[in-house]
Amino acid sequence: MTETILVAVAWPYANAEIHVGNLTGSYLPADIFARYHRLKGNKVLMVSGSDSHGTPITVRADAENSTPLEVYKRFHAGFLELFQQLGITYDVFTSTHTSNHFDVSQKIFLALNQNGFMFQEKQEQWYSPAQSRFLPDRYVEGICYICGFENARSDQCDQCGNMLEASKLIEPKSKIDGSTPELRETTHFFLDLGKLEPEIKRFLQSKEDFWRPNVLKQSLGQIQTDGLRGRPITRDLDWGIPVPLPGQTGKCLYVWFEAVIGYLSAAVEYGNFIEDQNAWKQWWTNPECKSYYFIGKDNIPFHAIIWPAELLGINTTFDEMMNSSNPQPLVLPYDVPANEFMNLEGKKISGSRNWAVYGRDFLTRYDPDPLRYYLTVNMPENRDTDWDWNDFYHRNNDELVATWGNLANRVLSFAHKHWDGIVPEPGELTEMDNELLQTINKGFVTISDEIEAVHLRAALQEAMRLASEVNKYLDTTAPWNQIKLNKQVAARAIFVAMQAIDSLKIMFAPFIPFTSQTLHNYLGHKDQLFGTQSVKTCMDELGDHDVLRYHPVGSGSKWHPSNLKAGDRFEKPSPLFKKLDNSIVEEERSRLGN
Ligand code: MF3
Ligand code: ZN
Repeated sequence: MTETILVAVAWPYANAEIHVGNLTGSYLPADIFARYHRLKGNKVLMVSGSDSHGTPITVRADAENSTPLEVYKRFHAGFLELFQQLGITYDVFTSTHTSNHFDVSQKIFLALNQNGFMFQEKQEQWYSPAQSRFLPDRYVEGICYICGFENARSDQCDQCGNMLEASKLIEPKSKIDGSTPELRETTHFFLDLGKLEPEIKRFLQSKEDFWRPNVLKQSLGQIQTDGLRGRPITRDLDWGIPVPLPGQTGKCLYVWFEAVIGYLSAAVEYGNFIEDQNAWKQWWTNPECKSYYFIGKDNIPFHAIIWPAELLGINTTFDEMMNSSNPQPLVLPYDVPANEFMNLEGKKISGSRNWAVYGRDFLTRYDPDPLRYYLTVNMPENRDTDWDWNDFYHRNNDELVATWGNLANRVLSFAHKHWDGIVPEPGELTEMDNELLQTINKGFVTISDEIEAVHLRAALQEAMRLASEVNKYLDTTAPWNQIKLNKQVAARAIFVAMQAIDSLKIMFAPFIPFTSQTLHNYLGHKDQLFGTQSVKTCMDELGDHDVLRYHPVGSGSKWHPSNLKAGDRFEKPSPLFKKLDNSIVEEERSRLGN
């Protein structure tokens, strides 16, 4: 039975270059997961875009003496380039600065207001008398009143992960001039989380023993200790989505309130691309749809509390607003497999200290699959991990090149040479041959199970372990020696190894899609394992925006054992991976921190 899968990926702030920590945190695991489901023939929609509003963008624009629009466009363009080079295959990677997203977000705001989950209240906010302006969110930093972290932002603490109440921040300082801001009254809309608490709690309790412990701890755990109170979801800021009610000049929707709505609005935009206005409903109002949110741990409260709260409060109203004849509620997150962080050479990744490995820069010197491989074997699924250049070097040479790449290359080269590019006739298989093929074929089940549980490290390790099983098999059967003694015996081993490699290539494909495709063609297959990506420029009242799209190929499942047959033609291979010189370790380390 085909499944319907929504792959919802954190929207990167369009204010900084994407580094390996961001990639392994959410974009890469999402892509692996989406590719796997596409190979299975499931109905996948993978969406995200540039998070282009709010103070993350305006603070950067101020610092550069530029405009928020210019900042967002520049980084967005870089993201599109990186995602194509690294094969992060969003069905739609758009931006929050589109008329469509404005429209959907404003509808959601009105729906929540209409359904009684919004209230207006006077509140004290930080204000700069010198600049005569309010200083929302990142414009103020200070000490976290929960954990004592020194550089907490007024809306969110990066150390304890809590959402903060701005006015409680200790020793607040303006990000603009370092001055101490004062509190002034301003009126804002609040999302009534208190009213939604019982439903949110019930929803989260239904995920106990299923979701990752850290995700539950930061959502259900927090609710059980503190309970939920209303949170302001508008700001005194002019860059963002206007509050769609009269008398709200100078106010915008809070960036987190609207960015999460992007998962829905991007699905609506997808419908426009394929000229099916109702396409979004296949994922969003389909109770069978499983939605997975790939995010970093700093995003947990927004995806495990705020977004479910919005969805619960919206209920059927959004569908009604979209003129549905039989309005349905929107689906709640099925899983939120948030990752921990990746450090770099033992220290926290930091753009300002140049302690970072950036995706685009990396790809000027290395290929995409080694990056995807290393980031997967080292993915921070349960605890923080560390990018270590020496480890990268070893994983590349000892695993990717030695265990997998050489296996494929040596078998195919040998076969090509001795059987003229035609898969040899194996004759009757021995018990050992059948055992190996059974072991390999079981991988389609075990690796499936691991990927579906979002244990991507374990899944990839299993594929690599199976590759070593084939190597062991070849050590024993030694076709390179048998060829001189008994060509038929050699043919049998080579046939078995080729089938095993043909199967393993599929299991590796979600992780290392580029070389898997190359190998697929070497093995004589003419079709594409995956679709293609392209960028489309779209115009609307807000101007133009570029959208990265994925165009699928074919349908049906490719996730099954090889049916390579004797007599099939195949090609002469070239090595799939480059062996790295040990000098890269010091070379790369010397780039850091300057
Ligand atoms: N921009 C946020 C970050 O980079 C993530 C936003 S996810 C969204 O941490 F869903 F809210 F968009
Ligand atoms: Zn804190």
